[in-house]
Amino acid sequence: MKKRIAILPGDGIGPEVCDAATKVLTEISRLYKHEFEFTYGDLGGVAIDSSGTPLPEETLSICKQSDAVLLGAVGGPKWDTLPGDKRPEKGLLGLRKELDLFANLRPVTIYDALAEASPLKDEIIQGVDLVIVRELTGGLYFGEPRERRGVGEEEVAVDTLVYSRKEIERIVRKGFEFAEVRGGALTSVDKANVLESSRLWREVVEEVAKEFPEISYSHMLVDNAAMQLIRNPKQFDVIVTENMFGDILSDEASMITGSLGMLPSASLSQDGPGLFEPIHGSAPDIAGKGIANPLATLSSVVMMLTYAFQMTDEAQALSEAINDVLENGYRTADLTQDEKTALSTVEMTEKVIDALTKKV
Ligand code: NAI
Ligand code: MG
Repeated sequence: MKKRIAILPGDGIGPEVCDAATKVLTEISRLYKHEFEFTYGDLGGVAIDSSGTPLPEETLSICKQSDAVLLGAVGGPKWDTLPGDKRPEKGLLGLRKELDLFANLRPVTIYDALAEASPLKDEIIQGVDLVIVRELTGGLYFGEPRERRGVGEEEVAVDTLVYSRKEIERIVRKGFEFAEVRGGALTSVDKANVLESSRLWREVVEEVAKEFPEISYSHMLVDNAAMQLIRNPKQFDVIVTENMFGDILSDEASMITGSLGMLPSASLSQDGPGLFEPIHGSAPDIAGKGIANPLATLSSVVMMLTYAFQMTDEAQALSEAINDVLENGYRTADLTQDEKTALSTVEMTEKVIDALTKKV
């Protein structure tokens, strides 16, 4: 199969982890006789430096013409003093909006070999396997009006939390679909005791649930969900929630594993290309040193193979290769105290490729 993949390395360690991904994808194309065509685009800080805007038209058109987009990370201290609408993050927000990536998926999986990295007790985290489905293009982060008015003590700042029935329906349906695929249950998280938008959310969940009579589902208030994620994360399978709640809960859930360098994400639209990226940032403190952990990005490739290309055998082989490498004790610097044995980004990538080759 031929697939066009847009690669947006971005800033900091982004280019280093994207290199790891293209090497692994190239190996997969060799092993499984696919053709992957990579087209590179600038996004974030590098794009500001090269063309004065965090999301150049050319990058957008590369993405729109591709079957999937792989992103490294954007941002860094160099651009921190720029005004809000000129910052690297604006490039990512713009891309999500332009590609209509309304469903953000963040799986949280515990690797037995890394259980010691979690700040939580073993018995709490063993067997955790959940996914947060976050609405990504609506709610408080995009609602209008957003403004400042008045002066002095009278000055007010306004953000607007608005959701349409249509926006809620499509994300809730995605949540049910993932629960169906995983053979699991759905938890819808809201704040229906306070927010009108959450009360509409609940109504829509009840309606969409009728299309999925086999799937068990429940509602949970967001403050309780924040507590339950730490108290007993195993109770969750698929969590579906609105944009800001999902932003906060997914960062919280990522810490269950204790290792930011391990976690992937996918952002999907109805029928356009999806965006696949590690959840970590550009890690300016280690950028350019060649020590970044590539596994979050490689797990994002697993999601790309699964959700964008329906290449389930390839996805499973890569996922098992990542697991094997960890089981064999290989660690990048962020996963071990022992500096002498820590592998570089390139070495870790080679270990994954070796393990992958053995699978086929
Ligand atoms: P960060 O995720 O970049 O780094 C947090 C800590 O984790 C750092 O100590 C870093 O070295 C470490 N780390 C992260 N990824 C790693 C990896 N793959 N291997 C080894 N260690 C890793 O978050 P931080 O420091 O809050 O943000 C740095 C920059 O990244 C900021 O400009 C921020 O805006 C941006 N950012 C971008 C995101 C994106 O592009 N989606 C997401 C989060 C932050
Ligand atoms: Mg976040």
